[in-house]
Amino acid sequence: MAPNINPTLPLLLLLLLFTLHLSSVSAWKKEEFRTCNQTPFCKRARSRKPHSSSLFATDVAILDGALTANLRQPPPESPDQDQIKPLLFTLSVNQNGVVRVKIDEDPSLDPPKKRFEVPDVVLPEFESTKLWLQRFQTETVDGDSGPSSVVYVADGYEAVLRHNPFEVYVREKQGKRRVLSLNSHGLFDFEQLRVKQEGDDWEERFKGHTDVRPYGPQSISFDVSFFDADFVYGIPEHASSFALRPTRGPGVDDSEPYRLFNLDVFEYIHDSPFGLYGSIPFMLGHGKARGTSGFFWLNAAEMQIDVLGSGWDAESGILLPESGGRIDTLWMSEAGIVDTFFFIGPGPKDVVRQYTSVTGTPAMPQLFSTAYHQCRWNYRDEEDVENVDSKFDEHDIPYDVLWLDIEHTDGKRYFTWDRVLFPNPEQMQNKLAAKGRHMVTIVDPHIKRDESFHLHKEATSKGYYVKDATGKDYDGWCWPGSSSYPDMLNPEIRSWWSEKFSLKNYVGSTPWLYIWNDMNEPSVFNGPEVTMPRDALHYGGVEHRELHNAYGYYFHMATSDGLVKRGDGKDRPFVLSRAFFSGSQRYGAVWTGDNTADWDQLRVSVPMILTLGLTGMTFSGADVGGFFGNPETELLVRWYQLGAYYPFFRAHAHHDTKRREPWLFGERNTELMRDAIHTRYALLPYFYTLFREANTSGVPVMRPLWMEFPSDKATFSNDEAFMVGNSLLVQGIYTEQVKHASVYLPGGQSWYDLRTGIIYKGGTAHKLEVSEETIPAFQRAGTIIPRKDRYRRSSTQMANDPYTLVIALNGSHAAEGELYIDDGKSFEFKQGAYIHRHFVFSDGKLTSSSLAEIELGPLWLRRGKSAPVLTIRRPNVPVADDWTIKIL
Ligand code: NOJ
Repeated sequence: MAPNINPTLPLLLLLLLFTLHLSSVSAWKKEEFRTCNQTPFCKRARSRKPHSSSLFATDVAILDGALTANLRQPPPESPDQDQIKPLLFTLSVNQNGVVRVKIDEDPSLDPPKKRFEVPDVVLPEFESTKLWLQRFQTETVDGDSGPSSVVYVADGYEAVLRHNPFEVYVREKQGKRRVLSLNSHGLFDFEQLRVKQEGDDWEERFKGHTDVRPYGPQSISFDVSFFDADFVYGIPEHASSFALRPTRGPGVDDSEPYRLFNLDVFEYIHDSPFGLYGSIPFMLGHGKARGTSGFFWLNAAEMQIDVLGSGWDAESGILLPESGGRIDTLWMSEAGIVDTFFFIGPGPKDVVRQYTSVTGTPAMPQLFSTAYHQCRWNYRDEEDVENVDSKFDEHDIPYDVLWLDIEHTDGKRYFTWDRVLFPNPEQMQNKLAAKGRHMVTIVDPHIKRDESFHLHKEATSKGYYVKDATGKDYDGWCWPGSSSYPDMLNPEIRSWWSEKFSLKNYVGSTPWLYIWNDMNEPSVFNGPEVTMPRDALHYGGVEHRELHNAYGYYFHMATSDGLVKRGDGKDRPFVLSRAFFSGSQRYGAVWTGDNTADWDQLRVSVPMILTLGLTGMTFSGADVGGFFGNPETELLVRWYQLGAYYPFFRAHAHHDTKRREPWLFGERNTELMRDAIHTRYALLPYFYTLFREANTSGVPVMRPLWMEFPSDKATFSNDEAFMVGNSLLVQGIYTEQVKHASVYLPGGQSWYDLRTGIIYKGGTAHKLEVSEETIPAFQRAGTIIPRKDRYRRSSTQMANDPYTLVIALNGSHAAEGELYIDDGKSFEFKQGAYIHRHFVFSDGKLTSSSLAEIELGPLWLRRGKSAPVLTIRRPNVPVADDWTIKIL
C-alpha cells in the first residue's frame, strides 16, 4: 500500500501520511499512473499500421546449433532518414517443444550500449536441453516470391523463418497448420540505440518527474498470433477476468492495453488492465480445435500488451485475412531485447511444463506454510500476540503462523525490534513453536537513511545502493522516511543481504521465524508512479527502466537464499513477496496485495490466483477478508470459505480496520469460520501432494476448469469456479444473501458434494441451494482424496495422525489418487526421502502402489448416502507400505 503523494518536503509528507491514515476510504488514483497515451513508446507502437515493418531476413545459416540470420530493412528513401543496422536473429530449439527466438543489435556494429538481457531467470538446466540443429530446409510458402527456412522442433512440429516479409512461426508438420506466429501482421519495430544528436530532446516528463533518458528511444514491439485459440490467458498481474478481454477492436471503447509494470497501487479496482505489483510476460492461448500454446517474452522493462479483437485491423484500412479462431496480440516494451519462447503444448499441462522448464517449477513449500496464516497490520505487542494465539486454542481453531507487520520494528529499521513492544522476541517465538507454530516478520527493501543504523552505514560505505541518474545513492521516501534501496541485481549485494538473515545477524530471530518481503516493486512514495525513477542506475550501468519488473524478483531471491543459508541448506525457506517476475515461483509465495473488503474483490481473487498459477506462481493467495475496509460478517465468512481453497491461505487487514479474528462475530460465525479452516486442515495432505506435483511439473495446485477439461468450451471463460488438483471443484459465492447458485460441473462423470455426498451429473449446470455453511465444493467421480480428519492446534501437530482416503467411484466403480509425504521441511526429499503412493480402487479392491494383499486390520467402512460413494476409515495400514484392501 502506498499513500498517493507527490515529492515534497519531509515535514509535509509526515502530515500527509498522518491524514491519509485517518481517512480509511479513498479511491484508486488513476491519474497517478501513466496511460498508454502518456507513455510515448506505447503510443507510438499502438499507432503503427499492419504491415508497416519492412524487415527481411538474409544470410540465413546454422551456427552453434541454431538458425541465424540478419534482419535488414530496405535502404532509406531519403538521406535524412536513419539507416537501420541489421539485427541479429537466432532461433534455437529445446527439448519438449520449446522454440526460442532472440533478436538484438549486432555487437560487432558498435551500438552505443549493450542492451539489457535479463540474467538469472532461465534455468541453467534449460540451456542443456538445447537440440543442436544441423540443417534447415528451404521452402516457398504462402505464394511468396522468396524462400522460407524450416527447422525441426519436435515430433510433428516445425519452426519457419519466412524471409521476406520477415515472420517467424511454429506449425504442425502435417497439414502445415500454424500454432503461434510473430510478425504475421508486420507490426515488428525495433528502435535501435543511437548517439544523441544536437536538437534531440529525449527527456520525458510525468507529474513533475523528469526522466533524462540518456539513451533515447529503445523500445521494441511486435504482433503475436495464437492460432485455433478461443481465448488467451496469463500476463499477470491485473485485477481482471481470467480469459483476457480484447483491448482494441470493434466494440472496445477506449481500453488501455494490459500493462506489465510493477506498481504499488493504492486501492486498486477490481476490473482493470492497469499494472499491479508483479509482471509475468507469459500468455497462453487455448481453444477447442487444437488445444493450448504459449508465448513468453523474457524482458523486465515496462511492457504493454494489447489483445486485438477480431476486426481490429479495420481502422487501418488494410484488412487482414479472416481471423477464424486466431487471436492476435500486440506486445510493446520500453527497452531490452527480443528473447522470446514459443511453447507448442498441445495440452494445457504441456504448456505450463514447457514454461516451467525455462523458468523453473515452484519451490516445494514447508508443510506449515500450506496451512492457515493469521496476519494483521499490526499485532501490537507480545501481549497481543499471546492473546491472539491463545484465543485460537480457546476456540478450537487451528492456525500455523502469526505475522508481524512493520510496526514491530524499531522505527521501520528492518531486522530490529521495537523493544518496548517486543522485549523478548525469541521467547515469544519459542512459545509459538512449542505449539508447532511459526512466526513471520516483514523485511522491506527500503533502508532507513539513518547514520546510526548499521545496515545503512554498511550499505553506504560498500556502495551497495541503487544510484540516481547523477550517480549518487538514490534517496526515496518510504515507511521509514528517507530511504535507499540495495542494488539487488548485483550478486555480491544479494549475498551480503542474504547473510543478514543468519540467527547471529538478525538479533531476536529464531529458526521458527520466516520472512515477508513487501514494497519490493519497489514502492517509493515520492517517486514517479510511486516507484523508482527509470533513469536510476544499477550494477553494470543497467538503467532501472531495463530491470524494473525484476527488482522485486531479485529481492525475493536474496531473501530466500538468506533463509536457506541460515538453515545451513537444511531448512526450506518461506518468503512471501508482493512483487514478482517470471521465475519468482522458485523463491516462495506471493499474494495479490492490497485488496478491499468488498464482494467484487472476493470474486476477482479467483481469476487473479488462477492466472498466477497458470504462469508458474502457484503458491499464491489474496488477503482473506480484504485488506482495506471492514467486511460485513457474511462477506468475511464467505471469504474464509473460499480462501480455504487458495494455495496460500492468509487473513490480513489494514491497521485502520476493526479487529476481525474469527471469534469476534458471534458463536455461529466463529463456527462457520472454524469449519472453513478445518476443511483446509483436513485437506492438507491433498494440498501438499498437489504442491509436490507443481514442484515436479509446474502444473498448478489451483487450476482453471479447462486445464482438466480442455475440450469443454463451457469452461473456457468460467472464472467463478476452479479446480483444486484434478479431483476437487470449488464454486465461490460472490454475492450476499444468495439462496441458489448455478454451478457448471464439467465432464462425463458425476460429482459428489463434498459435504453431503449427494451425486450430481457431469456435463451440465445445476441450480443448487446454497446455505451459509459452505460454498459449493465437489469431488470428481473416479478420484481418491487423502485427508487428515483430526484437528489439532497446528499442521505440525498433525504429523503423526492417520490418513483418511475418500474414494469417489466413477461409473465403472473405479477411482484413483495419490498421496505425497515427506518430512515437510528439509531438502531431503531431493535425495528421495519421501513416500509417494498411488492408490487405485477397482474390482472392489483398494490398492496402494503394490498389488500385494495384506491382512485386513480393523476397518471402519461407512457408506455414503448415495450408493457408489464409499468412505474407508481406519484401515490400520502403514502409509508407506504396499497393501490392498478388499471390499467384500
Ligand atoms: C503494504 C502491504 O501490501 C500490506 O499488506 C502491509 O500491511 C502494509 N504494506 C504495511 O506493511
